[in-house]
Amino acid sequence: MPKKEVKRESWGSSMGFMLAAIGSAVGLGNMWGFPYKLGMNGGFAFLILYLLLAVFAGYVLIMTELSLGRKTHSSIILAYREVSKKYTIVGWFGALAPFFILGFYSYLGGYCLKYTIANLGDLFGASWGVNGVSGPEYFARLSADQTQSAIYTAIFLVLTIIVVARGLSEGIEKFNKVAMPALFVMLLVIIIRSVTLPGASAGLSFLFKPNFEVFKGTGWITVLAAAGGQVFFSLSLGMGILVTYGSYMKKDQNIEKSSLVIPFADTVIALMAGLAIMPAVFASGQSPQGGAGLLYMTLQTVFNGMGKLGPIFGVLFYGLVVIAAITSSMSVLEAIIGSFIDYGLKKGYGNQRKKLAWGFGLVCLCMGLLVAYDGLGKYLPPMFGKFSWLDGFDLLAEGVLMPIGAFITTIIFGWIHPDMLPEEVHIGSEFKSEKFYRFCLKWVAPVFTFFILIGQLNTFFG
Ligand code: PHE
Repeated sequence: MPKKEVKRESWGSSMGFMLAAIGSAVGLGNMWGFPYKLGMNGGFAFLILYLLLAVFAGYVLIMTELSLGRKTHSSIILAYREVSKKYTIVGWFGALAPFFILGFYSYLGGYCLKYTIANLGDLFGASWGVNGVSGPEYFARLSADQTQSAIYTAIFLVLTIIVVARGLSEGIEKFNKVAMPALFVMLLVIIIRSVTLPGASAGLSFLFKPNFEVFKGTGWITVLAAAGGQVFFSLSLGMGILVTYGSYMKKDQNIEKSSLVIPFADTVIALMAGLAIMPAVFASGQSPQGGAGLLYMTLQTVFNGMGKLGPIFGVLFYGLVVIAAITSSMSVLEAIIGSFIDYGLKKGYGNQRKKLAWGFGLVCLCMGLLVAYDGLGKYLPPMFGKFSWLDGFDLLAEGVLMPIGAFITTIIFGWIHPDMLPEEVHIGSEFKSEKFYRFCLKWVAPVFTFFILIGQLNTFFG
């Protein structure tokens, strides 16, 4: 095979990079995680804590991942190897989590796609609409139909693969440039409807009324774990996504500013999601909940009760969740293939993006099918004897691999090589928060990531 000199891809513009990184952060976590956790864990009091964690740990970890990527010019596996051969294993470790995430994320995204289409059906009075079936009933029917779930998982993943295969700036960046502003506008429209419904104020009070009682006794541990886990997952930390996205940054792009804008935008969208969701939930007389129950049961019942406008808001809402989910899943697939594209370039095989996107995408599809069919009958029963495959994958990725990977990263760059990354941040811009960064990376971030690990294990096994 002749050696080809092919250049590594990079972002077309700073704006494109920012929107892609925000697209990765904004996902299901903002929609079904944040609003409910906010309301249940002290409202405004939780918000303050969340913001503190986002600044003291989120900001710092984002900057670490972005600058590691840009410095080494490599995706996760080669990035760690570049720092030192003995860290290669950390890179591999981080490269594993995305497979599990994409396995269950594409299943959940597939459901959002199904709900979008079903609400579209209602709009046209078609037989394939929801047709007034209550949210819980509709969800029960869909979950029982494993083949249909598998088909939607596959469609969601194929859409992700198509965009990623097109290229970094031609695919991911272009998609985000259109999708993220669209998501913002759709969210605004829904907020206006939601907060003007009669009885909406109960939802606002659920979200924001400060309640410091939740911190009493050992309560603060639960609240801290909830906030920490949310910051971590929502900012897509600990699995090489931002290392990969950072590796495509140009040297004149400002890492410090980007690290601030990403968590800021992510939090704004999470708050907006709260405003879009909770007032409508309360106005329709239902109790708040989080997770799949909120998205696939409660909210469908809300749309059913909105009369003629219901399907319109249904399509808008589920459509925006599909956008949020797909811009996240793209980043996960990119983190997987990025390392192998780099290997290919190094070995002179040229840019093998297309083949790699389809190849690894299909591997992830197999993982998604395991989730949709919940194992393989008697050959693959529930995980560890008690978890569904969805929860099992979530546990492995979010509960174990991501926090451990991030913890080790804080040790490497906070303690062993503390000067390596600040040097990179200095290139092309001032580094105003350098002292703050160094302090937080050394003292706050390791404690934070360790705490997340314990908190996550507790949630799963508690
Ligand atoms: N941040 C995304 C969300 O909030 C999820 C995600 C996690 C995406 C990890 C990539 C990696 O839903």
